[in-house]
Amino acid sequence: MFNVEHIRKDFPILNRQVNGKPLVYLDNAATSQTPQQVIDVIVDYYSNYNANIHRGVHSLSQEATDAYEQARLKIQKHVNAKFSHEIIFTSGTTHGINLIANGFASLLEQGDEIIVSALEHHSNIVPWQMLCERTGAELKVIPMNLEGELIMSEYDKLLTPNTKLVFVNHISNALGTINPIEYIIEQAHQVGAAVLVDGAQACPHIKPDVQALDVDFYVTSAHKMCGPTGQGMLYGKEAWLNKLPPYQGGGEMIAEVSFEKTTYADLPHKFEAGTPNICGGIAFGAAIDYMNAIGFDAIETYEHQLLAYATIKLSEIEGLKIYGTSKHKTSVISFNLEGIHPYDIGTILDKLGIAVRTGHHCAQPIMNFFNIPGTVRASFAFYNSKAEVDALVAGVKKAKMMLS
Ligand code: ALA
Repeated sequence: MFNVEHIRKDFPILNRQVNGKPLVYLDNAATSQTPQQVIDVIVDYYSNYNANIHRGVHSLSQEATDAYEQARLKIQKHVNAKFSHEIIFTSGTTHGINLIANGFASLLEQGDEIIVSALEHHSNIVPWQMLCERTGAELKVIPMNLEGELIMSEYDKLLTPNTKLVFVNHISNALGTINPIEYIIEQAHQVGAAVLVDGAQACPHIKPDVQALDVDFYVTSAHKMCGPTGQGMLYGKEAWLNKLPPYQGGGEMIAEVSFEKTTYADLPHKFEAGTPNICGGIAFGAAIDYMNAIGFDAIETYEHQLLAYATIKLSEIEGLKIYGTSKHKTSVISFNLEGIHPYDIGTILDKLGIAVRTGHHCAQPIMNFFNIPGTVRASFAFYNSKAEVDALVAGVKKAKMMLS
């Protein structure tokens, strides 16, 4: 049975005070908090078997290698990849996106087209603009409507035989919209385009099935799903990963090196140059274990209840406008109070111990679409409580009173 009070005990940070008030942590879309079970795995690694992997004959190195490769298997199973070598460890979502963008530089030419969406984070816009500059390919954008949903009839019109790549996020970080990625992938494949899905905001809430989706690339970060920062994963279909050139050169990504010629290692090592974040990978596996033990169905149901409750309560505040009103959304509420800058609201909430993100959320095109400088964003995780929603609502009312 899902019991939020029981779950909250796993997170030591939730006991602390901020500015003399109990912490109400509602910035989970920026980074999630870490349960004791994952902290213990990190401490155990550095206390007992810290060593470099894939290199040593000694026992410590073997133990670290085994634990790291076990984590890769956990991720493979979690996203239902066909092979474990289709899972590449990265430093995070941004790394994964740049790895793919760099790989496609050798495959694209003038006249090719790339499609992104109006709902993207800067990390899923800038690398593709850089790729277009390098290759002469053209960037096209799927527009959005006032609910913050992508307009699929417009997407259909953008697809042509020249479309080589489509990039969308699974869930918008700024608005919480869940995008129809099944349709997007299916249509892109009709014209022979590959699809990369940015799952950074989805994986804390949803268990993706990369084979059922038939997605070509799926990237995510550990730190938004109870794992450490500096760690992520890229899933790529075997055929694509074999086709793309390595991103970085260095140790461990080679088969043989001479001054005349270097040959590359097989997957996944071809894309994992240098000493990786070994502890980060192992802790990522532990975070996945932790979340699976709670269960993604239970997490989704609970977070939807929290979202519905928070939406009703916040909407009752006069002058408060919510951005992102799709029926298909996750537990993110972006809002503004009429005539008040989001930064001022965030500052007052912080004084009350309530952590939210304010600003453009690395998604300036979305803010431009709504013609606003930014929003206040409250993003809820499965360990947030109804009482914390009440604290947020009271805090926003107080901020309104002080700033009006
Ligand atoms: N991408 C993260 C966010 O949305 C940092 O806050």
